[in-house]
Amino acid sequence: MKKFLPLFIVSLILCFCMGGFSGSANNSYVFSEVGAQSDDVSMTYEDGKLTIEGLDEAANLMQASFTGKVLTGVKLLEAKNGTTEVTANIGDKFFLWSATNAMRPLSAAVTVRPAEQPEPSNNILVAYFSRTGENYSVGTITTGNTAIVAQMIAEQTGGDLFEIKPVTPYPSDYQEMLAVAEKEAAENARPEIADTVPNMQDYDVVFIGYPIWNGDMPKIVYHFLESYDFSGKTVAPFNTH
Ligand SMILES: Cc1cc2nc3c(=O)[nH]c(=O)nc-3n(C[C@H](O)[C@H](O)[C@H](O)COP(=O)(O)O)c2cc1C
Repeated sequence: MKKFLPLFIVSLILCFCMGGFSGSANNSYVFSEVGAQSDDVSMTYEDGKLTIEGLDEAANLMQASFTGKVLTGVKLLEAKNGTTEVTANIGDKFFLWSATNAMRPLSAAVTVRPAEQPEPSNNILVAYFSRTGENYSVGTITTGNTAIVAQMIAEQTGGDLFEIKPVTPYPSDYQEMLAVAEKEAAENARPEIADTVPNMQDYDVVFIGYPIWNGDMPKIVYHFLESYDFSGKTVAPFNTH
């Protein structure tokens, strides 16, 4: 168990963060749709107590406490077969994980909220830059690596996809591409972007994906970042390399 702890915590934070983006209100808690879950397990919250029913195998129960958006502690608890009750506070997030298989989540994240609190908004944008053509070590590709990851994130979060496309297409030849990227880096260029996000103000969460070019973000992604006001938004960068 201990050797999986870092993996647990990283996965947990990701799941918890994603769990906060969507869900349906049900009395005093929100049960998110994100993550694998067993139909047999139910988690309900009432008067300071979280009750887990229907577990047919021992599981690790993760409890994450937050002060505002800041994660202030993660506890690992053992959930018993059958019914388990644990003390819970408003704002706490819970997640069940198989005690025997660190890779197997048994539930999506549950966030304990006051019943009267509105559902969190689900305004998520997944913006990405990705290139097709000759790719490092794998030959020619018709869908870029970052585009594939962006599609996965959009599917899991229900976010809208936006492709950061250059007005002047990049070369598909790898060596030519390297030369263009080096020139852009040397000139600190801001390549023109073909489209704009018309309703950026409507998004609360913006994922931004890009490939690593010479140890850095492509200059077109700098241009994208400089083109909008991200104040008050949660920005989640991701990259492939
Ligand atoms: C111009 C250029 C520079 C690159 N520089 C790096 C690099 O510094 N480090 C690295 O790990 N990969 C580097 N790569 C490989 C890409 O980061 C990797 O293939 C990435 O997944 C491409 O994403 P895409 O298919 O979405 O465009 C570079 C690729 C290109 C085209």
